[in-house]
Amino acid sequence: MQDLEGKVAVVTGAGSGIGEGIARAVAAAGMKVVVADIDESKANTVAADLGGDALACGVDVSRLASVEALRDRALQHFGGVHLLCNNAGVWIGALMADADIKDWQYLIDVNLYGVIHGVKAFLPLMLEQGEGHIVNTASMGGLISGPPEGLYTTTKFAIVGLSEALLMETADKGVGVSVLCPGLVNTNLITQSFAVRPDAYDPGIDHQQPAPDVASGISPRVVGEQVVDAVREGGFYVITHDDYRDIIAMRHDNIVASIDEHAKRYGSTSGREV
Ligand SMILES: NC(=O)c1ccc[n+]([C@@H]2O[C@H](COP(=O)([O-])OP(=O)(O)OC[C@H]3O[C@@H](n4cnc5c(N)ncnc54)[C@H](O)[C@@H]3O)[C@@H](O)[C@H]2O)c1
Repeated sequence: MQDLEGKVAVVTGAGSGIGEGIARAVAAAGMKVVVADIDESKANTVAADLGGDALACGVDVSRLASVEALRDRALQHFGGVHLLCNNAGVWIGALMADADIKDWQYLIDVNLYGVIHGVKAFLPLMLEQGEGHIVNTASMGGLISGPPEGLYTTTKFAIVGLSEALLMETADKGVGVSVLCPGLVNTNLITQSFAVRPDAYDPGIDHQQPAPDVASGISPRVVGEQVVDAVREGGFYVITHDDYRDIIAMRHDNIVASIDEHAKRYGSTSGREV
């Protein structure tokens, strides 16, 4: 979607961090922005600071009805939605042996169902318009995994898979897709994930696992600018950090080596020589 001027963007989790960075970047590109967050005071602050056409909205992405209400509010106010950034997300560090089922449910409901609800609520509208773009925030943890990030990366790997399939599904229908996979970004992720966690998801356990040092990360502003470039240019993977390049290459090499090893041992299923 090359021309962003005057078009409408909905950004979830835009009251803070990467979402705020995206909201600022799309506003600077001339878009009208719906600043959506479960923390309404943060959404109000960002929208007021952006001024102009920005609209603050409360939303809980873990609930489909809330995301549908966000879509209806955006449509009522602006008459269309051209860019959806499914960005809201939370983090918990826990070993799988210790994690409570409520830890899993919190991460899956916000991180994964949050994206699913966004796609469910907004994709039909974009297909009907014949124009749109969806950016899903995964993480570098959607491409590589390791403890104590197992719960978190489960949700983020799923977002990468969902986004790859969505890209193929909508490629010839005027709707673009990008998946954002940052490394460390200097945001409020670690504290805000606990501040907005509903009591129903609180297992009452302190897992005492080291949190990622997000304060050492890059600026959310830089991430926002790279997202705008991807939307304009139709870029799919938005991988803001090159620090993990060799680990990703090693992971893929291991997968390919396993394919070759199994084909040698059990025979090729594709008829090709290995
Ligand atoms: N900070 C990093 O290093 C990093 C790296 C890779 C990916 N990410 C991802 O980036 C996204 C944004 O996180 P961030 O780092 O900017 O953190 P952040 O806490 O600064 O911003 C996340 C925002 O999402 C909101 N939110 C949380 N639950 C919500 C819900 N149920 N409904 C609506 N809004 C909700 C929070 O209130 C917060 O304003 C997340 O998906 C996160 O997993 C972050």
